[in-house]
Amino acid sequence: MKKHLLNVTSNIEIARNIFEMKLTGPGVGSMTTPGQFLHVSVGNHSSKLLRRPLSICDVDLDREEVTLLYRAQGEGTKQLSQKSAGEIVDVLGPLGNGFELAENDHNRKALLIGGGIGVPPLYYLGKHLKSKGIEVTFILGYQSIEDSFYIEKFNEIGETIVTTVDGSLGIKGFVTDAMMNVMNDEPIIYSVGPAIMLKAVEERAGGLRGYLSLEERMGCGIGACFACVCPTETRESGYVKICSDGPVFKMGEVVL
Ligand code: FES
Repeated sequence: MKKHLLNVTSNIEIARNIFEMKLTGPGVGSMTTPGQFLHVSVGNHSSKLLRRPLSICDVDLDREEVTLLYRAQGEGTKQLSQKSAGEIVDVLGPLGNGFELAENDHNRKALLIGGGIGVPPLYYLGKHLKSKGIEVTFILGYQSIEDSFYIEKFNEIGETIVTTVDGSLGIKGFVTDAMMNVMNDEPIIYSVGPAIMLKAVEERAGGLRGYLSLEERMGCGIGACFACVCPTETRESGYVKICSDGPVFKMGEVVL
C-alpha cells in the first residue's frame, strides 16, 4: 500500500469554498502521471470520516510538493480545510489509472474540458502535454465568477476559454456551448467533471478520440468495496470500478 505522511505547507481558500493545499514529502516522487488521485485522510482516526479521493492538480518533483484543490462541502473536506502549515496529512496513492498521453501522435492538438472541481487535474495534464509539444486549449466551466479559480495559471499553458452558468465570467452557459468553435482541428479530447457533463461532452465530440475521467463517490479507493462501479458494454463483467479500472476511461468505454 502506497501510504505517505506528507507535510502541509499551505492550505488556503482560493475561490468560494475551493481550497488549495500544498503537501511535501518523499512520497511525492511517485506522483508522475496526470489523472491519478490521492485518497486523503480528512478527519481524526476516531471519526468515521476516513478518506476522500482528491485528484492531483500539480506536482513539483524538485521540491517534492503536490498541490491538491478541493471543495470544502461535506464534514470531511471541511475538516481538511482547517489543517494548517506544519500539520501532517496521511495519504494513499497515487491511485488509479491516469491519462494516456498523446506521445508520437500525429495530432498535435488537445482540447481539455473541465467542470467545477473537475478542473484541477487538467492543470497537471496540460503541463505534460505542452512539454511534449502538443498545443493545448482549455475549456473551463464554473457556476459563477465567485467559483472560478486558476484561470491565469491555465492561460500560461494554453488558450483558456471560460464558461459560467450565470454569465458572470466568459461565455454564459456550459462547457459544451464553447466546444464547437475549437473542434475544427479534430483535437484529442480530455475531460473531467460530473457524469452529466461528460455525457454531453461525449455527444458533442461526435466520434473524436478522447478520454474521460469520472468523479464518483468512493469508499476504499483501491478496488475492494464496489462503491464506485459504473456500467460498461466493453467488458464481460458489465461494469468497471472507477477507482481501480479508472478514473480515466476512453470515450465510449463506460455508459454515462
Ligand atoms: Fe471501493 Fe472503488 S471505491 S471499489
